[in-house]
Order: sequence, then C-alpha cells, then structure tokens
Amino acid sequence: MNIAVFSFSPKNETSLTYHSMLYLQKIFKEDNFDIRLVGGKCAVTDEDKTALENADLVMFISSLFHFSAPHQMMMFLDDLYEKFGEIMKQKTFTFYSTSGKIMDITIHGYVENYLKAHNLKYERFLSQFDCSILEDDGRAEIIRWFSFIKQHMSGEDVRFKDDKCKAVVVDVTDGSNERVNKATEDALKALSDKGANVTRVNLRDYKILGCNACYGCYTTCVCVLNKADDWVKSFNDIMEDTDIIMTVGKLHYGMLGPIHKAWLDRQVQFGRRPFFREKIFDYLLDTEGSTAEDMNMFKIHCSAMGGFGGDVHSCIGDINELDEHIRTSVIMYNLEMRHDQDFYGVGVDMKFKRLAVEIQNMAVKDYEYFKETGAYKPMAINPNIAPVYSGEDSVRAKKGRLIPYRAVINDAESNIPDINKRTRHNEPMPQLEYTKQEGKKLSLFGKKK
Ligand SMILES: Cc1cc2nc3c(=O)[nH]c(=O)nc-3n(C[C@H](O)[C@H](O)[C@H](O)COP(=O)(O)O)c2cc1C
Repeated sequence: MNIAVFSFSPKNETSLTYHSMLYLQKIFKEDNFDIRLVGGKCAVTDEDKTALENADLVMFISSLFHFSAPHQMMMFLDDLYEKFGEIMKQKTFTFYSTSGKIMDITIHGYVENYLKAHNLKYERFLSQFDCSILEDDGRAEIIRWFSFIKQHMSGEDVRFKDDKCKAVVVDVTDGSNERVNKATEDALKALSDKGANVTRVNLRDYKILGCNACYGCYTTCVCVLNKADDWVKSFNDIMEDTDIIMTVGKLHYGMLGPIHKAWLDRQVQFGRRPFFREKIFDYLLDTEGSTAEDMNMFKIHCSAMGGFGGDVHSCIGDINELDEHIRTSVIMYNLEMRHDQDFYGVGVDMKFKRLAVEIQNMAVKDYEYFKETGAYKPMAINPNIAPVYSGEDSVRAKKGRLIPYRAVINDAESNIPDINKRTRHNEPMPQLEYTKQEGKKLSLFGKKK
C-alpha cells in the first residue's frame, strides 16, 4: 500500500510524532511510506501533489499546539483541498495525533469536520502520547491500529477468527421503539452469521435503582443497593466473559436515555480504577429524529468518559450502517484490539489518581491500585535535556529528547511486541456482600499516634 504521510509538527525532523511514523515504517516493510515534513508550511507544493496522487491512504499526523491544530496545518489543509480537492475525493484519509486522548478530542474533531465537510472518506483515527512508542503497549497499539486500517480498507468479508467470541446485544430503550427492536434482532443475526455466540439483553427487563450517592461503595466496592435490585445480574449478564458489547438505542439529547444512565451510574462501585478496557464496545443508534449536535455530544461523552467503554471513531453510527459495524467489530476482535489506551492516562486516571490520595482512608483499594501502577513515583529526568537560552540549546535539547526514540526505531525489527494477545484486565464481577476494611488512622491535623 502507498501511504502519503503529511507531518504537521513545526519541529519537522525533530518531531516526536514523526518518529512514531518512522517506527511504523520500519515495522510495515511491505508498505511504501512517503513522509512529507510539511510542519510550519501554509501552502502545498507540487511534491505534495505527487505524494497525494500516488497514495492509497493519506495520513495526517500532528502533535497539538495550543490545544488544537497548529495554524499552519489549518492553512495547509485548506490549500490542499482548494488546489487538489478532486484528487482527494479518490483517496482515503486517516489521522494520528500525540497529545493523549482528552487533549486530542479537539484536533480530532477539527480534522473529522474538515474531512466530512468535503465528503472525504476516512478511517479510524488514533490518539497516543508522543512517548507511547517508548513502551511495548504503545508500540502494540500503533501496530494494531495500522493493521486495522489496512484490513478495513481491503473490503474483504471477514469472519471471527475462532469460535470463542461472545457478543451481547443490549437494547437500552423502554421497548416502545420498533426500529431499535428490529436493529437489535438484525445485529444478533449478523453477529451469529459471522461466528459469534450471541445473547440479547433488554436493560428494561431488570429492576435497576438509581445511585443515591451514599459513597459507601468508595470504601467497600459494593453498592448498598445491590441486594435490593437486579443490577448485579444485569451487569454479569452483559459483561461476564463478553468480548463484544453492542448497545442499541436512541439518542436522548446526546445521551442514551435514563435507563442506560441508571445502569452506568452504578458502575461507580468498581472504584476509580479502570476496568473492562479489553472489551469491544459498539454503539448502534437509531438517529432518526436526532440532530448532528446530539451525535456530536454523544461522541464527546464517549471520548471524555471512557467509562462508557466508548470506542469513538469507528463504532458509533446509525442502525442503517449495521453491516459496517459488524465488520469493524470482527476485525477488531481478530486483531485483538481494544479502545485507545492513552485516554485514561490524561483524563479520568489523572483525576482519580489525585482523588485516591485525597480520600485514601475511604478508598483504600483505589489508592493501592494506583500506587501499584507506579502513578506516584517521580518520573525519571532525561539528562540529555538542558535549559534553552539560544537556538543551539534548542537544537541540542530536541536531539537529546530523541535519543530513546532512535533506540526504539533501531531495535524495531528485533523487538516486535506481541499484538496477538489481548491483555485482559477483567476485574472480579460485582459482589453482593462486602468485607469491612481497616483504614489507616489519619486526621486533618497530622498523623494520629
Ligand atoms: C505553542 C505551543 C503550544 C503547545 N500546545 C500543546 C497542547 O495544547 N497540548 C500538548 O499536548 N502539547 C502542546 N505543546 C507541546 C507540543 O505539542 C510538543 O512539542 C509535543 O508533545 C511533541 O510532539 P512533536 O515533537 O511531534 O511536536 C505545545 C507546544 C507549543 C510550542
């Protein structure tokens, strides 16, 4: 495959984002990457046109500058469409950014709006940190993402790679919507035809009480309402050993309605630590009667609240796109993909890491979890980076920062991460009973003797 990469970081060859591309290029030797360092440029050239013409896939890559696209990138993209819009209509686009999910929501929205406004085809975007490729997980993620794009673009019909896939289709409406009912049945059949073991769950069939914010679960990880209703059963029916959760419903001002929300709110009993990241979540929506604002709001909810299990870019869509949803889920299952990891690093995790310290005596398990991940250890300082007082200092610092990236790229072929294994972080299923924990004796006025 021919890939034209337009790299927009004004740091050009010293850009960390660009080094993620060099890594990808080293791994996917069978593909031809034409990387254009257009950072800081506002206008396109004939070489850019040639790269565009030769490409099967056009990849934009950038870090963030002041919470969104660098201004030069905005101007470059406008110029690209103005001059070569006709060529662009024949191509498929994607986007890779490296400021870590929460921040990347803005630039992803910008690029998606640009592509949509011009009716251009695009594939799933990826958000990582600029340092993600320095770790095995990050390297596996970028490899899976690119493999996904290649398979998705191939248009081949795919089946689940084994007969172990368990899929649950959840109708979250009150049952009065015929279109949702039909979409739920169609989804069950389509998943089963591809080789999954499927079950239907209607959330309305369970008695689910609303969280009343007693905060007991912060300490016990068990909700005081668990014995009074069917929440535990509903959760187990949907989540236990499940690979794909397809939620079908209708948008209610950008959310999936109060039944679904009642069910979600009770998940707070798992504590503030992330869980169930390895599952594939898909939202199939009846968007009839919804506005573009509803859809955008739902996407933002999914991105900003990964707790929805939100897979933002390829798995939210209209019930009329069922076949596409199923195909996407099959490829994700076969490639052992899960939703982007880095979101949690900057969003929910960051807030909860701090919260866990603050309420350590109440939420012991949360604190212990984060402590074990090393969240409170100070970061190592890169000794190759010194203060910048001049142009030369700046060049030296940028090069110093690149040292570990160059090592990863040098090592790429001999150290390929295992992408065929989905890391399972299944927490134990929700419990009805809790055991009393002893908290440390702390007081606002210092440690108790
Ligand atoms: C003017 C300016 C604004 C920036 N704004 C952001 C930002 O909003 N979010 C962010 O994560 N990084 C921001 N950065 C840091 C860069 O994006 C940083 O260089 C990036 O993490 C490294 O990727 P790169 O080497 O590929 O550019 C900013 C840097 C500059 C100079």
